[in-house]
Amino acid sequence: MEKKLEGLLAKLYRNSHLEKPELLYLLEKITYQRAGLLFAYARKTRVKTYKRRVYLRALVEFSNHCRNNCWYCGLRRDNKKVARYRLLPEAILACCSSAYQAGYRTVVLQSGEDEFYAATVLADLIQTIKKECPGMAVTLSTGEAPREKYYRLYRAGADRFLLRHETISTDLYERYHPGMNHEQRLQCLKELKEIGYQTGAGFIVGLPGQTDAVLAEELLFLKEFDPDMVGIGPLIPHPETPLGNSSAGSVEKTFILLALIRLLLPEVLLPVTTAVNTLDRHGWEKGLAAGANVIMPVVSPAECRRKYEIYKDKSGVDYAALPEIKRRVEKAGFELDMSRGDSYSYKRLRSAERSG
Ligand code: 5AD
Ligand code: SF4
Repeated sequence: MEKKLEGLLAKLYRNSHLEKPELLYLLEKITYQRAGLLFAYARKTRVKTYKRRVYLRALVEFSNHCRNNCWYCGLRRDNKKVARYRLLPEAILACCSSAYQAGYRTVVLQSGEDEFYAATVLADLIQTIKKECPGMAVTLSTGEAPREKYYRLYRAGADRFLLRHETISTDLYERYHPGMNHEQRLQCLKELKEIGYQTGAGFIVGLPGQTDAVLAEELLFLKEFDPDMVGIGPLIPHPETPLGNSSAGSVEKTFILLALIRLLLPEVLLPVTTAVNTLDRHGWEKGLAAGANVIMPVVSPAECRRKYEIYKDKSGVDYAALPEIKRRVEKAGFELDMSRGDSYSYKRLRSAERSG
């Protein structure tokens, strides 16, 4: 590997930071086949912060209704071909309870932007989950909402919130999210963090028009925003969407980006997302080898999984039972950690509160 590349990787490993032209250079030069040193630094970093532990999140996809019309997503409101469903709170609770009994200590409640679930309904649900599943962390992934709603759900006991910014380019954001506003998206993220949620941001890899320069900006934005969690995944074109004929995002580029994110944000909780696992059947293993430390098996009922069609052929492996997951994680040289897996900044805050 050429000297300049090696030097930049060593610098990134040492400082957890690079300037934009340096990141751009890495993004342009590194191919998956030549990324051995990058992945080695990323693994070394994750072992320093998280040892070999891998955290699990049980993903419950509770409604596929959505008021938005994102150009890439099969749940967009103009897709009349998807069979819509909503789980009632009792059914959501049942999913959470069985995940809890199986040993999960984080549940992620995910849906399209569906106003059917008012703040009161969700707040009650969160309180019930907290009561029936003591010690379970609740993560929400339900899209944009007014600050008051975010606040109310936080007060009800929600611990974390995932809201991908999708892309840092205002131009691309506005092109692919008709009727939505980039500034408002970023404002939501800021508010979630201010309220006290462990907050997750992230972007799609391979949106048409997303150059390496944009990717460098994605990385710098993450560095500056300093989220607790980052979710990224390759675009998987869905035939019933305006991006149906686009090429898929590169899963190899996604692994490279995961490693760069690990180096920029050594303590971040970094999942191997379903999209990665869908395009590569060894997605979990390769993602972990690139510095990821979280996997998110889907635990919603089979008929929901089929209908929660963000893209086609969503990974079958994400539905695996725990013993199978454990086997794969251990075979890859890691170990399952069944604790809540809170972020470092959250843990520091809690211990400061206890001692102060
Ligand atoms: N391909 C890849 N990722 C997608 N998402 C939505 N549709 C697609 C697609 N076709 C991602 C978005 C969203 C997350 C839940 O799924 O980033 O935030
Ligand atoms: Fe709705 Fe999210 Fe899909 Fe956009 S990506 S259409 S907000 S479910």
